[in-house]
Amino acid sequence: MLPTIARSCFFGPDNVPGVRLSRAVAGYRSAPTPRSRPPTGRKDHVPELDFAGLTIHYDHRVLEPRPWTVAQSAWAAELLDELPEGPVLELCAGVGQIGLCAVWGRDRRLVCVDDNPVACGYALANAEAAGLAGQVSVRELPLDTAVAESERFALVIADPPWVPHDQVGRFPEDPPHAIDGGADGLDVARTCLEVARDHLVPGGALLLQLGPGQSAILAPELDGLSLVEVRRHADRGELALLQPAERPVAA
Ligand SMILES: C[S@@+](CC[C@H](N)C(=O)[O-])C[C@H]1O[C@@H](n2cnc3c(N)ncnc32)[C@H](O)[C@@H]1O
Repeated sequence: MLPTIARSCFFGPDNVPGVRLSRAVAGYRSAPTPRSRPPTGRKDHVPELDFAGLTIHYDHRVLEPRPWTVAQSAWAAELLDELPEGPVLELCAGVGQIGLCAVWGRDRRLVCVDDNPVACGYALANAEAAGLAGQVSVRELPLDTAVAESERFALVIADPPWVPHDQVGRFPEDPPHAIDGGADGLDVARTCLEVARDHLVPGGALLLQLGPGQSAILAPELDGLSLVEVRRHADRGELALLQPAERPVAA
């Protein structure tokens, strides 16, 4: 069933990603990307795609939005209908499409964090184009310093680089910083766990994107978070829902 809210992203039946790409329908690597053309600042030279109803701009200096990740937006949006009051934090936001789509049509503030200035510029522009500038702020910072100690969020969406360092060369089209997750691919994901642990409201949630099989590797080191559910998207990746672990009430 399609969402009834008019101003909402299109996720398709049962939240199956309803991606309507303007340039390609299949996986993003099959689509031609104008990498040889330097960005000029002119709109007609900037690739765009339709991410579940939002027009998203990006260029070769950032990771090209991957259609399957609409599933992360869709799940986040579904969670936001039930989660406690509070804003949304998106870690490793890139050009912002996952978080923007999650809050579109909802009364939630969104804070996007990325340390790539180009990505942050696009995230801001994409928020403005979606009419969300008033509820979105973008922080161009490393994720471990981006959030003030006192800040709390109802939902943390995280999309860290997760390719193991020695496999980064398999993806020459992608900017290495956007995909290099360190020795086992989980360095940045671990920092996302730390940020979520420190900044979720009680009853809040972390929706973390990982590579295939990586939630099992992280499971023993969650420390203060519980793994609630994992949704696997074949060889493209997986989405893990985590919540603050219930602490025993002191006697
Ligand atoms: C896998 S990409 C995801 C981008 C976007 N969410 C998407 O799906 O297209 C990871 C992003 O994390 C950013 N990043 C990597 N390490 C970071 C760090 N330590 N602090 C903040 N951002 C970081 C990169 O610049 C990149 O935009």
